[in-house]
Amino acid sequence: MDDSVYRPYPGAPSDAQQSFTARPHRWGTHSAKWDLLASPLGSDAISLSVADMEFYSAPTVIHAITRAAAHGVYGYTEVFTDFAQAACRWQRVRHQWEPRPDETHFFPRIVQCLSALLDRVIAPKNGERPVLVTLTPAYGPLLEVARRLGVHIREVPLISHPAPNTAFLTHRINDDLLNAAMTGADVLLWCNPHNPTGRVWTRDELHAVATLALTHDVLVFSDDIHADFTRTERTSYTPLALVSPELWERELLIHCASPGKTFNTAELESAAIFAPPALGQALEEAKRAAGLHNPNYFAIPATIAAWTDGDKWVDTLRQRIDANLALAVDLLHTLLPAAHITDPDGTYLVWVDAAAYLPHADSLTAVMDEARVAVSPGIDFGSEYGSYFRVNVALPPADLEGALERFCHCLNAHATSPITPTFSSSTEHPA
Ligand SMILES: Cc1ncc(COP(=O)(O)O)c(C=O)c1O
Repeated sequence: MDDSVYRPYPGAPSDAQQSFTARPHRWGTHSAKWDLLASPLGSDAISLSVADMEFYSAPTVIHAITRAAAHGVYGYTEVFTDFAQAACRWQRVRHQWEPRPDETHFFPRIVQCLSALLDRVIAPKNGERPVLVTLTPAYGPLLEVARRLGVHIREVPLISHPAPNTAFLTHRINDDLLNAAMTGADVLLWCNPHNPTGRVWTRDELHAVATLALTHDVLVFSDDIHADFTRTERTSYTPLALVSPELWERELLIHCASPGKTFNTAELESAAIFAPPALGQALEEAKRAAGLHNPNYFAIPATIAAWTDGDKWVDTLRQRIDANLALAVDLLHTLLPAAHITDPDGTYLVWVDAAAYLPHADSLTAVMDEARVAVSPGIDFGSEYGSYFRVNVALPPADLEGALERFCHCLNAHATSPITPTFSSSTEHPA
């Protein structure tokens, strides 16, 4: 490990840092995305996989951490009301939802909160293995936790089909299947905006899901970690709690927020869990029982700085992500004419069905090796998505463009039969 890569924070971010055009050097930083997953591809590899960003965090966050680090004493810390106030402020200002500070709970990670809920709140109450419903494709680590805890998982595949007159993939919920799956279930794992499809659920969809949960008495675990990434003039993000106060009143909703994606602070481990009183109390007890007490030393100052002073930086970041999504969708569309590509309303992820290019289960690995570009394999999001991959666009546009060109070139070389576009030449190419 080369210590020199841990460069001291220079005081003020450079113009390139602020405009998201300079890629930080992350090799040798114990990075999961680079040092673990991309390193087999070689030192000139580029990664579009794990959902963290190739951008420096907000100056206010770096400043808070640098100040805390400079203090030099890293003893036990606690969660005080300023954490809850900052979390509630962010929801109020950014998402027009007003949760209560006394209904705001700290968990290091959302995945740990789900684990605590399933293992120590629902399972003991039921006396049997909980039943969890999830839409698929789905973010894998949450389901892995459920699987390892012996939870019964009912998968409800999203209906995907090309949007009319375009090659773009759209996704919607299979209402009948979801209704059947919710019967007798304990928890619905809900993700808004949805990873990996980038769907931002409409108010009508949210209302329908809330109605199902109320009808079947199913607790909704709403994972809104991608909430800050939505695109201008598209479906706007709405917390489920705003659409259905009744879910909250009946103690059937847990809402998970985190600065991790938005501020690129995933490994500081800080999430705000909003829960109605009895559920919140049960989660607090479950957290203690899991041995999760005292946050990471840097988690609280960084989160408070992010959620108190990070607005302007996030506004600029959102513009960069919006432009990068447009760039990636356009490039993928042009370079992979036989693929089905999502044009996401939210997240910084693009989900691609590349069945025409991937004849074998291990083809994607071979393409990544040849291109020296890592993407997230579809199989990580469900066993039936082996012909898919997910692209993370949160990096400087020049790097994104170069990586996608390299990757698509190799993918084309792997296609076994002649490639025909999935749309006719007379169809409009959406902006
Ligand atoms: C939908 C979703 N939920 C949760 C997480 C992880 O959250 P945490 O690290 O707080 O467990 C991710 C990370 O990629 C994610 O995409």
